[in-house]
Amino acid sequence: MKRLFIKTYGCQMNVYDSARMADLLAPLGFTATETAADADMVILNTCHIREKAAEKVYSELGKLKRLKEARAKDGGRMVIAVAGCVAQAEGKEIIARQPAVDIVVGPQSYQRLPEMIAKISRGTGHALETEFPAEDKFDTLPAPAAHGATTAFLTVQEGCDKFCTFCVVPYTRGAEFSRPVAQILAEAKGLADSGVREITLLGQNVNAYCGTGPDGNAWSLAKLIEALAKIDRLQRLRFVTSHPRDMSEDLIAAHRDIPQLMPYLHLPVQAGSDTILAAMNRGHTAADYLKLVDRIRAARPDIALSGDFIVGFPGETDADFKATLDLVKQVEYAQAYSFKYSPRPGTPAAAIARQVPEEVKEARLAELQALLTAQQKAFNASCAGRTFPVLFENPGRKAGQAVGRSPYLQPVHVEDALSLIGSIVDVRIEAVLSNSLKGVLVSSREKALAH
Ligand code: 5AD
Ligand code: SF4
Repeated sequence: MKRLFIKTYGCQMNVYDSARMADLLAPLGFTATETAADADMVILNTCHIREKAAEKVYSELGKLKRLKEARAKDGGRMVIAVAGCVAQAEGKEIIARQPAVDIVVGPQSYQRLPEMIAKISRGTGHALETEFPAEDKFDTLPAPAAHGATTAFLTVQEGCDKFCTFCVVPYTRGAEFSRPVAQILAEAKGLADSGVREITLLGQNVNAYCGTGPDGNAWSLAKLIEALAKIDRLQRLRFVTSHPRDMSEDLIAAHRDIPQLMPYLHLPVQAGSDTILAAMNRGHTAADYLKLVDRIRAARPDIALSGDFIVGFPGETDADFKATLDLVKQVEYAQAYSFKYSPRPGTPAAAIARQVPEEVKEARLAELQALLTAQQKAFNASCAGRTFPVLFENPGRKAGQAVGRSPYLQPVHVEDALSLIGSIVDVRIEAVLSNSLKGVLVSSREKALAH
């Protein structure tokens, strides 16, 4: 029996990949452990999106090196692997910078991990795979194992052809690729059979999905969702992350017509100034985005919108930044992520001369985050007194408590609900906390009123 510790950074696609790596290595005798200290193999599944994310990996590797040395002194061995987008972007430089690393494996090559581990165990060399191999990793990886979870991620699309000038994804994840419909349906059915009630479809550009259908034609994401909605016991569907340019009419209509598709949409705009949007190569203006939001809300009036924002993109003036604030005020987000622009090696924006000073980025981020937090609070406050179907996922911190999600992705805590994990039950929201809601089961409240 060997112990495996996987530490995951970055996006949900990495979370999905980490689970698949664990499933792939299970037949080799690896079982999951909670800490690096007692692991025989450690995989860091890394993110390269911003400098901070990438640098975290090297400080973690420093710690692992010491653990590895201590293990060697006791006559044991620890294998260290770096996977994910830093592996793809930096390749053998990682081993040059931290020679304790045994394996470097990019996101398209996880199916090759068993042979890489075998190679390492035969000698003391390193193993490196950062090509985009001809074989499809999804054809080779095993189907996800049943873990008794209520919700699951399912990667349907990878890569990006949009080339936003700030972004590393087209380089680390390669060109847009969509998995075939049959493969996705089979995986989703397996998940539903194992007790999963909600699937979040993942892709760097998920709404650009165009996988080959069983009829031989290219299927849109909307068509895929329609087919997934027919799977018995699969009660909720979500998808992330979408590009405004790929928000097609049929996908908007799906939000109106398919009850399993949850009324929540992560639709990053990044900035509100047309000059900055053009410099980012986003392919849409602020007005295009606002019109799109109107069309989505016309189809599904209660939809909760979420977004990503970058402040301090090269050349961003005070007026440009104000345009971002204005756009946010018009949209009213339920939730959002915002970041200071981080120059990434090899991307066009990193070479622009007019970089924004750090203190200006700081101030703009603080102002934007104050506005977004106020909007999130207002959205949560508007939920007080309402009744939502909640899908219960996990036990809460208090005895008997269970935590689930509202249709709008808010965590909802409910007392005496442990037995409901795995099911969807109506909950009346009684209190709004800073990042979650508290509610009571409608049935028990009605009972209480009847007494
Ligand atoms: N600097 C800061 N934020 C970035 N993002 C992507 N690249 C960068 C960068 N170079 C943000 C975008 C994207 C999210 C995943 O990360 O907002 O939507
Ligand atoms: Fe980070 Fe992007 Fe890679 Fe996800 S795809 S891990 S966000 S760099």
